[in-house]
Amino acid sequence: MADKPTKGLADVVAASTALSDIDGKAGRLFYRGYDIHDLAGRATFEETAHLLQRGKLPTRQELADYGAELVRGRELGALVSANIAEIAEKQKPMEALRSLVSLAGADDPDKDSIAPEANLGKAARLTAQQPLLVARYHAARKGIDVPEPDASLSIAGNFLLQVTGNTPSPRAVEIFDTCLVLHADHTMNASTFAARVCAATLSDMHSAIVAAIGTLKGPLHGGANEQVMKTLESLSPTGVAEAVREKLAAGEKIMGFGHRVYKTEDPRATHLRRLSEELSADDPTYFRMSKEMEEVVFETKGLYPNVDFYAATVYHYLGIPTDLFTPVFSISRMSGWTAHVIEQHADNRLIRPDSEYIGERDQKWKPIDERQ
Ligand code: COA
Repeated sequence: MADKPTKGLADVVAASTALSDIDGKAGRLFYRGYDIHDLAGRATFEETAHLLQRGKLPTRQELADYGAELVRGRELGALVSANIAEIAEKQKPMEALRSLVSLAGADDPDKDSIAPEANLGKAARLTAQQPLLVARYHAARKGIDVPEPDASLSIAGNFLLQVTGNTPSPRAVEIFDTCLVLHADHTMNASTFAARVCAATLSDMHSAIVAAIGTLKGPLHGGANEQVMKTLESLSPTGVAEAVREKLAAGEKIMGFGHRVYKTEDPRATHLRRLSEELSADDPTYFRMSKEMEEVVFETKGLYPNVDFYAATVYHYLGIPTDLFTPVFSISRMSGWTAHVIEQHADNRLIRPDSEYIGERDQKWKPIDERQ
């Protein structure tokens, strides 16, 4: 008979990884041994994706080669292009991405291989295509064309250009790039675990990423950033404290707070708070409301904001539509998910845990006409 399970697998070590590490008590996060505080605002998202997928921070030459591979790889395939308009009409953003990544798998030149070289190429293509999929989806639902990418801009810059239709300021690009760096990987979070479970059956990278996207979508995971913005929009700027206290007294969860692993401030929230404050200079209402929410939730429940809380206002101030916040998370986390699939395939064993049976035993079989 199996042991009692730990609900939600809390504290269960489900995999070995060299990709990221969290010190939950000290509130620290590392990608391949680099402190997130050293990377945020210094390494670009492209450098971070290279670090995760290819094992090291790139030299200038390696970054140029990887950048060129990303540019070549962002071309969307025929199946995706043929279906994006209908998908945009019928599916919400995260549902659409789940469908589109699945179609991109069929378009991928290495679709039938999980060999290390094929996986590296697919990881780059998935990372390059995800921002374009979000931008193309958004344009399709609005019935407009996506601006051509600007060769002088990074992934972050081109995404802002293609979603807002305006050339972003250099500082907006830096801020968004930092957001992508901050969301790139996070140990055995639910979507990464889903990706690894799928990959561990020796299924392909696109299938694992589809599993991850479906998992990120939920409001207890990546969907929280969108819910944070909706909460802010639903509150009166002068009634924040009272409304939050009422919600907490009614047993409601406040999205963007609490974390399974951090017992102190999430180090990503520290950066995002600062960036939100900077962007709020001309329009401080939502930032002020967020600060007040943070104070009340801490006073009442002792909970800290997580990555999703201040990401919401940062994205809002950058002009990103609220229902694209979780897709933005997926743009960044694609770098981590794909790196985890590479890692899983490189040293694989099927992930197949046990379960605790809590149902009836020794039931007596009855023919259908004798059942009640
Ligand atoms: N608002 C209010 N109370 C919260 C809370 C929140 N955001 N997060 C946790 N709590 C409370 C729970 O109600 C529970 O209280 P109880 O012991 O009195 O019942 C306790 O803290 C533990 O919460 P639990 O949901 O069991 O913790 P978990 O480790 O399973 O969940 C999260 C972690 C992140 C899912 C959880 O904090 C949450 O739902 N947060 C909101 C969603 C969110 O922001 N997700 C993004 C995560 S990066």
